[in-house]
Amino acid sequence: MEISTNYSVTKDELKGKVILITGANRGFGKAMTLDLAKAGATVIMLGRDLGSLETAYDEVVDSGFAEPILYPLDLEGATPEHYEQLQRDILENFGQLDGLIHNASIIGTMMPIEQYDLKLWYSTMQINVNAPFMLTQFLIPALSKSKDARILFLSSSVGRTAKAYWGAYGVSKFAIEGLSKTLSEELEKTSIKVNSLDPKRMRTKMRQMAYPAENVEKNPTPESVSPAIVYLMSEQTKSLNGEQLTLEI
Ligand SMILES: NC(=O)c1ccc[n+]([C@@H]2O[C@H](COP(=O)([O-])OP(=O)(O)OC[C@H]3O[C@@H](n4cnc5c(N)ncnc54)[C@H](OP(=O)(O)O)[C@@H]3O)[C@@H](O)[C@H]2O)c1
Repeated sequence: MEISTNYSVTKDELKGKVILITGANRGFGKAMTLDLAKAGATVIMLGRDLGSLETAYDEVVDSGFAEPILYPLDLEGATPEHYEQLQRDILENFGQLDGLIHNASIIGTMMPIEQYDLKLWYSTMQINVNAPFMLTQFLIPALSKSKDARILFLSSSVGRTAKAYWGAYGVSKFAIEGLSKTLSEELEKTSIKVNSLDPKRMRTKMRQMAYPAENVEKNPTPESVSPAIVYLMSEQTKSLNGEQLTLEI
């Protein structure tokens, strides 16, 4: 299903909602943070680099949007104890969670599976698959407290149609699609709706790493497409569940 990026964000349309985004310090994560905060949501900005998280926080606050919360955590090294602490922090401070956006990912390397570097394979799977799985498992209790909760998994075209040499990244996105679909079936009768989203090409560091020779100007900026995420977290998409979404660019 295609989602229009031509959405006009209204101040306060997400007021009172608490939404966690992983990899919120830069790229698409930061763009989504700005739009969700503009719509009045309290964004829990999770990231591994405190310096760039603080810079992004300043940008949100200087724009006059809802003040976010910083949550430094490296998803590669995070253990169940870290996720349990996060669960406690959210329940104690907010009582519930209304949105969970699994955005943080690494690209790994472009290489045939036959030669793929083992260490990089493990790191990619840890950040792109195991961390979203653990984060989801530990945050379902907080999401269950919301009357209208959403889980959104950032995916990719190479996680829906296999492409040679995309290695661990492509495989990790296939796993994310499986996780999203399985969870959407399990939570079907609850107030938690689960979908995956392929944002298509965006002008970010990840895209540049994947296509170093490309003219970056031809790719949409993450800021130009991120209003669609406010729509995906709004009342209007309350019934969407188990969908493989794609941004219309
Ligand atoms: N850009 C595209 O064209 C495109 C296309 C299809 C799908 N996507 C998907 O869209 C999402 C966002 O992509 P993007 O282009 O914005 O990527 P990006 O520019 O590379 O940003 C990735 C984000 O993930 C964070 N991250 C990586 N490893 C982490 C770790 N161990 N712990 C915590 N955070 C970590 C990064 O933090 P650091 O700053 O600390 O590295 C950064 O904030 C990804 O899921 C990607 O697969 C992107």
